[in-house]
Amino acid sequence: MRPRPPAAAPAPSRQLPVSWLLVPELTNISLARGAPSPDIIAVDELRAAADRAFERDPAGAFSYGTSAGYPRLLEWISDKHGVEPDRTLATNGSMQADAFLFQALVEPGDVVVVEAPTYDRTLLALRKLGAEILAIPLEADGIDVEALARALDGGARPKLAHIIPNFQNPAGCTLSLEKRQRLLELAREHDFTIFEDDPYVELRFEGAQHPTMLSLDDGTGVVYASSFSKTVCPGIRVGYLVGPQPLIGSIRGIATGTYISPSMVAQSIVAEFCHSGAIERSIATVKKALLERRDATCAALERHLPEARFVSPEGGYFLWVDLPEGSDVASLETGARERGVIFVKGTDFLLEGGENSLRLAYSAVPPDQIEEGIARVADAYRELAGAAA
Ligand SMILES: Cc1ncc(COP(=O)(O)O)c(C=O)c1O
Repeated sequence: MRPRPPAAAPAPSRQLPVSWLLVPELTNISLARGAPSPDIIAVDELRAAADRAFERDPAGAFSYGTSAGYPRLLEWISDKHGVEPDRTLATNGSMQADAFLFQALVEPGDVVVVEAPTYDRTLLALRKLGAEILAIPLEADGIDVEALARALDGGARPKLAHIIPNFQNPAGCTLSLEKRQRLLELAREHDFTIFEDDPYVELRFEGAQHPTMLSLDDGTGVVYASSFSKTVCPGIRVGYLVGPQPLIGSIRGIATGTYISPSMVAQSIVAEFCHSGAIERSIATVKKALLERRDATCAALERHLPEARFVSPEGGYFLWVDLPEGSDVASLETGARERGVIFVKGTDFLLEGGENSLRLAYSAVPPDQIEEGIARVADAYRELAGAAA
């Protein structure tokens, strides 16, 4: 329950710190940011990887390098995905990879399919480029492919479909194998590119992994992006693209014109982290913590907010919550904020709708604080429900 201030605090005779008023200090709890907490970042292994990387290849780590990225990292990425290195490009975070891809492919008026809901930054980037956004609803097993098929049959001509296949941001759901295959079929039939935006793929803590659409395709119809933000740390800012060689070639040109080259220092560290196997240990640590946090989130929702409807994610950072029809999540957000808890409103991830939904990110919060945070959100919800009654 929310700690409440005493009914009548003594009037201060002079300016004193707020804490003097005996208002219990509330710890701020962020269920808003899709980021890991510092305690699950492999700091010692990163320091050791940096030492080895700088020792091994100081010239490569400290010079400009090429726009494609640090060669030893591209080698690891190409081995992982079974493609030639000239189909890869490593960037400063996968957000940069997304931006380059959109810059290469999307012109004003082009139709781009997105999931509804989807990553808010994707929506912003596409809007800025003047794309016409075709939002297709998400289901518990990913995008509603038959709704997309109907839109295509009805004359929609998308150039690109942006899909977050695993532990989707913000909905937490995962695209089934059948739907991956159906999407590839639709892309071939209607001649659009699938942009498989997959930063959470390694963070599965239960259930079976599905193959990437990149691996199911013949090498022409899918551009794949992933990131080391969720498996190493976001501050390192390293992500990558894998795609058809001609497209990657032209994106390398855009990258040269943008920043000459991405950070070779960061990419040499990540390359060493990956080749040495430290990444596997880091992923194991992150997954263990995320599973505990996911369980704490589901249990706290069931205990404090039984009205909440959600699908428990099998991995990743996020859980999407639907509250009963008519719930005012914008006001709930204000009430939660007053109680020191932040989350992101559902409307931020949609072009329309989402007024009774919210995204909870459990990635950065230890289980006891999750419990406390959700209890405070529930307290705000009861207050609103009481006022509306
Ligand atoms: C779906 C998706 N794509 C891309 C990104 C960008 O990740 P980064 O730039 O840190 O690699 C994020 C970050 O949260 C994301 O959720």
